[in-house]
Amino acid sequence: MIEIEDVTKRFETKKGAVEALSNVSLSIEKGQIYGIVGYSGAGKSTLIRLINKLEKPTAGRVMVDGEDITKLKAQLLRKRRQNIGMIFQQFNLFKAKTVADNIKYPLKLSKKYSKEQLDARVDELLQFVGLLDKKHDYPAQLSGGQKQRIGIARALATEPEILLCDEATSALDPETTDEILRLLKRINRELNITIVLITHEMEVVKTICDEVAVMEKGRIVEQNKVFELFTNPKHPTTKRFVHSVLNDDIPIEVDTTKRRVYRFIFNHQQILEPVLSQIGRKYDVDFNILYGSITELTDRLFGNLLIEAVGPDYQVQLALIELNQHGIEIKEVEGFES
Ligand SMILES: Nc1ncnc2c1ncn2[C@@H]1O[C@H](COP(=O)(O)OP(=O)(O)OP(=O)(O)O)[C@@H](O)[C@H]1O
Ligand SMILES: [Mg+2]
Repeated sequence: MIEIEDVTKRFETKKGAVEALSNVSLSIEKGQIYGIVGYSGAGKSTLIRLINKLEKPTAGRVMVDGEDITKLKAQLLRKRRQNIGMIFQQFNLFKAKTVADNIKYPLKLSKKYSKEQLDARVDELLQFVGLLDKKHDYPAQLSGGQKQRIGIARALATEPEILLCDEATSALDPETTDEILRLLKRINRELNITIVLITHEMEVVKTICDEVAVMEKGRIVEQNKVFELFTNPKHPTTKRFVHSVLNDDIPIEVDTTKRRVYRFIFNHQQILEPVLSQIGRKYDVDFNILYGSITELTDRLFGNLLIEAVGPDYQVQLALIELNQHGIEIKEVEGFES
């Protein structure tokens, strides 16, 4: 478990102090894929770099598995860092080393492995990321996606329990991004590694994260499970981020002053249609679907429908209550002038 407790981080610069983090608290359970999203300069990299003490907080504590890592002496810190792998947007591979030697580097530093173990471990890691045939190549001979796979293999070399990813897919095209995200998910599920992932792309959060924190100007403005955050964003910045991937605008042609419109939010696509027509019939209400989208959020489906309800007021209310009892969240779209 990672616990960031009331951390403030100030950088002293020639132009004065910059407060990159202001009283940030966050806890990340073991086994999670935890996303941190925010615009440029929000403090994401500073925050994630606290976890392996690449940055030291000005105030506050950073606890990893119950140990305050800000207090660790150099030698113990080096040891603890073997437990925390990290990958970067620009891959940060050693250009003059082969793929195999890049992966060997942290293994040699750890001094835990014999020569035979080193070679076996490199092969095993390359196999895992699907690049055994590139063993003797140099980074310059690889595509961006392949470089990141090698970065991942290197980060996993010392069998860490935590993997930090700082914009690991931001330099990649969408298809390669998907491949890397699938690999990260496998690492999380098969190797049971906790992943903390920074991104400015909500698409990434939506695809693999379990929980997410939204940052702005050095603060966490909202934090929640991915499904809850997408279906019920509260802070304006969160709403903007969510909106960037879920187009839930009301179409211009839908005049909400003349039609009684509701937004239905649900997560069991299959139950919706029969339930709608059944309950509509029961209360003599017509439900017209004006707009709809179904989105996959991590492992769950998220349906978002704009529905017009036509019928006597009282009947409509009864029908909505019953729909709500079927697990459909209903929000009235304002504007209707009855
Ligand atoms: N070493 C440093 N010295 C001075 N200021 C810094 C330093 N590192 C970060 N900052 C400042 O702290 C703030 C947060 O920076 P940080 O790199 O954490 O943001 P970020 O959310 O990762 O942004 P990006 O999406 O652009 O990577 C910025 O104002 C930045 O200029
Ligand atoms: Mg950054």
